[in-house]
Amino acid sequence: MEDLLECKNLTKQYGNALPALQNVSLSIKTKGIFALLGRNGAGKTTLIRILATELKQSSGSASINGMDTSNDAKKIREQIAVMPQEARLVPWLTPRQTIYSYLLYRGFSRSEAASKVAGALARLELGKYENTLNRHLSGGVKRRVLLTMILATEAKILFVDEPTTGLDPVIRADLWGKLNELKKTHFIFLTTHYLEEAERLADMIGILENGKLLGLGTLDQLRSIVKYQYSIRIMQGTTPDIETRIGEVIKSADGSTQIFTTETDAEEISKKLVREKKRFSIYPISLEDIFYYLVRKPIEEDTIHNPIGKNGVHED
Ligand SMILES: Nc1ncnc2c1ncn2[C@@H]1O[C@H](COP(=O)(O)OP(=O)(O)OP(=O)(O)O)[C@@H](O)[C@H]1O
Ligand SMILES: [Mg+2]
Repeated sequence: MEDLLECKNLTKQYGNALPALQNVSLSIKTKGIFALLGRNGAGKTTLIRILATELKQSSGSASINGMDTSNDAKKIREQIAVMPQEARLVPWLTPRQTIYSYLLYRGFSRSEAASKVAGALARLELGKYENTLNRHLSGGVKRRVLLTMILATEAKILFVDEPTTGLDPVIRADLWGKLNELKKTHFIFLTTHYLEEAERLADMIGILENGKLLGLGTLDQLRSIVKYQYSIRIMQGTTPDIETRIGEVIKSADGSTQIFTTETDAEEISKKLVREKKRFSIYPISLEDIFYYLVRKPIEEDTIHNPIGKNGVHED
């Protein structure tokens, strides 16, 4: 099966700065949603802009559905639609006018554009706002208009860069529902800072840090990258005697202690904590744990000479 998305040693350097992307290689065959996670400045938007043929890489190659971003840029542009991170609506137009003019720009005839606008507005339940000036819409509705705009193009490959940033929990959950619907018929490349969002929506997840891809896979595959399957958090002031062999122990600034450990040791530790009447929580590791586990390492190795102390305990 052809890759939906493939990057080979993709590197991007802006001027003389450190590379924004460093030898990123990935291959995605799974339809649905690919969620790319990473802290501010990790390189997510840079990767989207290269794939969307807005930006040239410094070296390496990338392709979408077998089309190369350098040689087949025109074909790629016809098949994708992008919702940029900084996308803004023109304040003096209405949603209907915004989407209509975007469709004309994309090459649709006036009659095609008019009929597509109606369908797209209905799909994201925006009908009641269609003739309101964009400047009078709330932030959440504006994001929905932007999403409606790219959906109206009928492109089957969508790039959505932080579509839910800044939305209230109700509108965000609503958009999750819409994205979940869409992923049945589209390939969606999504970036987000909400790990819960990736956990709920994504079929594949990538974790980018300082321009390097630290992890790629389904949630279960990512869990297996991490040595430990359980996380135990012990509340402030109740740290028990923890031996090194049980896993990785991280003391947080808030006084709590987090332990990543195997299933067997988790059972033993939790029984001990129950006997000692300690306050603690225990759960199978979440995407958030995996994210912190992966992104913490390179940072600490760079900045702290000896992060793991004699007892296998390091301080935040
Ligand atoms: N046009 C540009 N010129 C120079 N440097 C840039 C440019 N765009 C991005 N960068 C730098 O490249 C790195 C990656 O930025 P990028 O915007 O891709 O990160 P990001 O993961 O999307 O971050 P965020 O989560 O904040 O959106 C950063 O160090 C950023 O400062
Ligand atoms: Mg970005």
